[in-house]
Amino acid sequence: MQNTEIKEWGLLAKHCARSAEKLIEDMLSRPLEVTYKSSASDLVTSVDRAVEQMVIDEIIKKYPEHGVLGEEGLVACKPFDFDTVWMVDPIDGTTNFVHQQQNYCISIAAYHKGVCQVGAVYDPTRKELFYAERGGGVFLNDSPLQVERNKEMKEALWSTSLFWNRRAMKSGLSEKAQRLAHRSRGVRVYGVAALELAYVAAGRLDAYISLGLNPWDYGAGLLLVQEAGCRITTLDGNEVPFGERSSILAANPNLYDFLLEFLTEHPV
Ligand code: IPD
Ligand code: CA
Ligand code: CA
Ligand code: CA
Repeated sequence: MQNTEIKEWGLLAKHCARSAEKLIEDMLSRPLEVTYKSSASDLVTSVDRAVEQMVIDEIIKKYPEHGVLGEEGLVACKPFDFDTVWMVDPIDGTTNFVHQQQNYCISIAAYHKGVCQVGAVYDPTRKELFYAERGGGVFLNDSPLQVERNKEMKEALWSTSLFWNRRAMKSGLSEKAQRLAHRSRGVRVYGVAALELAYVAAGRLDAYISLGLNPWDYGAGLLLVQEAGCRITTLDGNEVPFGERSSILAANPNLYDFLLEFLTEHPV
């Protein structure tokens, strides 16, 4: 992979994130159109669709040979059919966006031959851009990020969506997560997976645990977490599969082994 090419993908990802901010700002001056997808807790807005369309147009204009896998599916994309695939979540945290107009982000990643090369997660309300290129470290608005190396579980703050997840309750994972909560300093539930992964990279959270995330949810966050020196795998400790739904365990390097053991081995 040419370094100059990765740099160009990175510039495009950042450009799309900033353009999304302008588009969102503009659209928020008018009433938001909100509709249900599968249920009343699965929302999509006119903004999700408009941002996704804008990002697709920008990418395809520059790279017509690339694939774009976006949550709202505005263009057909089978990830294995393309050498380079962009994973786009136009608004991650749509429920927060609808209810609060904050605690949401835009997540854009460029994968080449199944490996994430560029990841950008942008929080427009806080003007925070989390950005990484593979092998180049991770940055928050151009300042390099580093996580603490000697974190202990009793001083860890982590986030999840497990407690409220039916699958997690059935499998006993919810109980495990609750017991884990008592071993830590505290738990948060933000409802915005890409930003929660960015926060692990920034050391604002020491771990993030979730079931059933889509490639556009974890696509960019995965690289941010890796470039910060943290670990990210499935909840079974396997590599996160390219282009598929996956559970996610992202953690500070000092806590990862303990968390994996606790979630997989510890009896409920
Ligand atoms: C959702 C959020 C949420 C996570 C869900 C995702 P959306 O994405 O990231 O935190 O728990 O699994 O679907 O629908 O707001 O883009
Ligand atoms: Ca959604
Ligand atoms: Ca999402
Ligand atoms: Ca979304």
